[in-house]
Amino acid sequence: MNKYTFTSAITLLLLIIILPVYAYLEPFRMEKAQIELREEFVSDAAVLYVQNCAVCHGASGEGIGAMPALDNDGLRTADYDFLYKTIARGRYDTAMAGWHMDEGGSFNDYQIDELIAMIRYVDWPQVGELAAAQGLIPPTLPVPEVDEAFLAEVTALDPDGAVWAEGMQLFANNCTICHGVNGEGSDLGAPLNTPELRAQEATAVTNTITNGVPGTAMVAWDNALTPTEIESIVSFLQNWDIIEGQGLALTPPEPIQIDLNNPEEVLALGEHLFATVCATCHGEEGSGGTGPALNSQQILTRNTDEQILNTIINGGHRPNSTMPAFGDRLTMVEMEALVEYIRAWEPTAPVVENPRGTAQGGGPPWLRATPDAENPIAPQGGQGQGYRGGANPDFQRGNQGQGQNDQSQAAPETMGPTVHLSGVVVSVNENLLAFQTADGAALAAMLGPPWFWSENGIPLNPGDQIELEGFESPDHMELNWIVNLTTGERLDLRTPDGMPVWNN
Ligand code: HEC
Ligand code: HEC
Ligand code: HEC
Repeated sequence: MNKYTFTSAITLLLLIIILPVYAYLEPFRMEKAQIELREEFVSDAAVLYVQNCAVCHGASGEGIGAMPALDNDGLRTADYDFLYKTIARGRYDTAMAGWHMDEGGSFNDYQIDELIAMIRYVDWPQVGELAAAQGLIPPTLPVPEVDEAFLAEVTALDPDGAVWAEGMQLFANNCTICHGVNGEGSDLGAPLNTPELRAQEATAVTNTITNGVPGTAMVAWDNALTPTEIESIVSFLQNWDIIEGQGLALTPPEPIQIDLNNPEEVLALGEHLFATVCATCHGEEGSGGTGPALNSQQILTRNTDEQILNTIINGGHRPNSTMPAFGDRLTMVEMEALVEYIRAWEPTAPVVENPRGTAQGGGPPWLRATPDAENPIAPQGGQGQGYRGGANPDFQRGNQGQGQNDQSQAAPETMGPTVHLSGVVVSVNENLLAFQTADGAALAAMLGPPWFWSENGIPLNPGDQIELEGFESPDHMELNWIVNLTTGERLDLRTPDGMPVWNN
């Protein structure tokens, strides 16, 4: 074969191979292009949203008062035409105006498509963050706190007092944003604590609240409040002068005004919130309590800001965790200020011996007892014996990092007895765990093949307290299971009959 025919043979061969491969990849390329386009649309739209829609629909699409939430599955799966019409043309006689240029709005078709893509695909909390970064979220809505004692005093005023008290509470929670804490009115809503309003028939007021005032920010409340609730608000509004006459007035909350570009103000907000909301469980300045010590190197180096934020938004990740979710109680600005404040401890944070341990009482009850190496608990409900790998003739050793096909048959007699140990993680390098036991011995153990871990991630970090069961094999220790006492995660590396889990 001369050089020419050789080259064309190769070319032909390449074409034969490449073409089908290309054809095979084409759908993926298109899908990738679509994903990229979607991402671009969503990013553009988030900016439009924050500037134009967040005032009514909330910074994270959560809705404000009776303005509907946009972060909901109904809208995510609504059809294109429905969303297009709503945004482009608005809803007749409501505060939802038409946003298309043809309707006197400021958006073209392309921008409306972007907004639709956003409603369908966006990660709403991220929009909230964008709004926070632009200083568009009011740090705290002026919702007054109404305590039990105050409501009891209102109740005592009149045989109908209990109804007034209920109405007052509902008013405080839902209406003060626009109508003012004492019904004085604001840029957003009319004054309500007036002789004129009290002169209206109760049915007329009920009707206004139930059906709203078309074309204004006064939306219909019939899907947010029950008829009985609306009735009690009306009863309260009509008797507000009597209640006030007894010196019982709602007190507006201290407004928190901070400059988001000033790190000191953000830290001060974080400090204030931590002391009032978190310290009951996490101790003063994060020193630990029924919740773990947060002011500790272990916790701070392990958690990224995003993870801390995520815990604050969603609460504790362990079953029956007492850590509440704060996502719908604090604004994004407040939660980010908390993260900043907690992060600021890092340079001076001590190494806490056991940030979640018995001393702090952290973690779920089943992790609070001090581990007892003499009486280990057998997984799968056994009798405290642990796995008997060495005694099992069918026992197989796992492959140690040479990939899936290395399943060398183990020789039981070469394996040492089962051991139980507890200690602290020193390092995790690929699949090699280095740790130190309580009496200072430095040991190493194999966790399984690296490909297994690159799929699952190793939930172990330097400083974590661990408890494990393993056995000596010829070149290193192998593990049956390991419990990360710091995070509560448990890894079973071998099934009760000794099979490495990555062989399944
Ligand atoms: C002045 C307040 C206000 C602003 C600003 C506003 N909306 Fe609305 N929006 C409303 C109200 C009120 C409704 C409910 C209308 C109704 O009762 O049908 C609504 C409804 C919607 C709905 C339908 C919700 C549903 O569940 O059916 C969508 C989608 C929507 N708005 C998107 C947007 C977008 C996108 C923007 C910004 C371009 C925006 N809105 C700006 C007040 C507002
Ligand atoms: C998003 C702002 C907003 C919220 C929240 C709101 N309102 Fe209104 N409300 C208004 C506006 C604006 C008007 C004036 C409408 C108009 O122009 O007639 C109004 C009007 C009213 C009126 C008629 C006033 C009159 O003089 O006749 C009543 C009654 C009322 N609201 C009660 C309530 C109650 C009760 C709540 C809470 C459940 C509430 N509103 C929540 C904005 C709001
Ligand atoms: C009622 C008690 C309680 C309150 C209040 C509380 N926490 Fe927690 N928190 C816990 C517990 C318990 C855990 C342990 C994690 C688990 O159970 O999943 C935890 C875990 C955490 C973690 C993760 C620590 C780690 O080990 O990675 C962070 C961060 C955190 N809390 C921050 C906060 C902040 C900020 C606040 C205030 C907004 C707060 N917590 C309020 C009980 C509480």
